[in-house]
Amino acid sequence: MSVRHGFPPIGIDAIALGVPRRFVELSELAEARGVAPSKYLTGLGTRRMAIAAPEEDPITLAANAARRLFLRSGASPADIGLCVVGTETAVDHSKPAASFLHGLLGLPSACRVFEAKHACFGGTAGLLNAVDWIASGSARGRAALVVCSDVARYALGSAGEPTQGAGAVALLVRERPRLLALEVGQTGSYARDVYDFWRPLHHKEALVDGHFSVQCYLDALAGAYGEWRRQDGDGEPLARTCYHVPYGKMARKAHRHRRMIDGLTEQAADESFAVEVEPSLDLPARIGNIYTGSLYLALASLLSAQARDLEGKRIGLFSYGSGSCAEFFAGRVVPEAGALVAALEIDAPLAECHHTPVAEYEALRRNDEAADRRPAPEDAERGGASLDRRAVYLGLDSSERRVYANA
Ligand SMILES: CC(C)(COP(=O)(O)OP(=O)(O)OC[C@H]1O[C@@H](n2cnc3c(N)ncnc32)[C@H](O)[C@@H]1OP(=O)(O)O)[C@@H](O)C(=O)NCCC(=O)NCCS
Repeated sequence: MSVRHGFPPIGIDAIALGVPRRFVELSELAEARGVAPSKYLTGLGTRRMAIAAPEEDPITLAANAARRLFLRSGASPADIGLCVVGTETAVDHSKPAASFLHGLLGLPSACRVFEAKHACFGGTAGLLNAVDWIASGSARGRAALVVCSDVARYALGSAGEPTQGAGAVALLVRERPRLLALEVGQTGSYARDVYDFWRPLHHKEALVDGHFSVQCYLDALAGAYGEWRRQDGDGEPLARTCYHVPYGKMARKAHRHRRMIDGLTEQAADESFAVEVEPSLDLPARIGNIYTGSLYLALASLLSAQARDLEGKRIGLFSYGSGSCAEFFAGRVVPEAGALVAALEIDAPLAECHHTPVAEYEALRRNDEAADRRPAPEDAERGGASLDRRAVYLGLDSSERRVYANA
């Protein structure tokens, strides 16, 4: 149970998504790669992958998710005292994604901003840091903006290709949250130095030891969950659990592993999947792997489907980042979260996405790799803060600075 008593609850107050405009149907990708579609659809449990066009990158996805967060939740950029962007696909070795966001959203100057990198774990590092920032008293009534944003890329034709995706999840974190009150002070951490997934500097595409990464994920789950259970003792059972979802089948494997640690038979563990996990997998299957945001996409999916029924119920969360670090933690769905989720319309941005043929996706990738676009000088003037318009990436100026505008 939560070890922090007598303080206001802290947790996730609102959630919003930022998604690219295009997606590829994985049945069509399978056909193009000469693979049985059932391998991607059933074997991996994926359906579509969102893909980024040249004017979309982790900054525009993050800005568009955050912008929507403010517009739908009623919060204002002026409320923010901490802004963390978790990303594996940073756009600069030095300038943090959070600084670009600070400008595009018009966040206050009295604000701590930074980027957190740890493969798919960076967003959770940001979230737990934000919770601690509030619990310590440093927030002084302000809220934190945590955005997980990535464009997942593996080589064309590789085994990882059907597990790509792109998108951002923005989380508003504050005292007395309206969605999920986290159990502050009770988390199970696990770390181990492994080479399961990596991306040397200047590589746009990730390298991965795929089957080893699956085993590393499961080992980390056992370690983090075991550590969390030791603290939880005879705590209340979890009504649902959201996992890091690089692809749907991974969540299925994770759930079986965790429930067998609880003492269930393999059959009973698998039978519990439909109730305890499946509602969290709809958005991940429609967007694909978004690295840092994948766990929070699962949470968004679960809340979109069942927030009203889950009010007052306890939810488990498992985050894994290759390399590796993992954390298991929990929270409780807040009374009346269901009404807020309906108002947030979390999945609405997906309605603006359109189907892209495989040949166009391949052409976009080649064009992206050329990356020689130069914005016109007058384009820079279209930048600045805006919550009303979509952020777009225009290219590098003559000093190799990235130029964004609000379209
Ligand atoms: C996950 C990954 C290793 C799978 O690659 P792969 O070697 O091509 O795939 P596999 O041959 O293992 O097949 C995947 C699944 O599809 C099943 N499958 C294969 N062909 C199938 C078919 N025609 N119909 C239905 N299922 C099929 C396999 O049995 C396997 O299921 P299982 O995992 O339950 O055993 C690869 O996509 C990858 O490297 N992804 C990126 C890394 C990643 O996401 N890691 C996760 C941990 S972070």
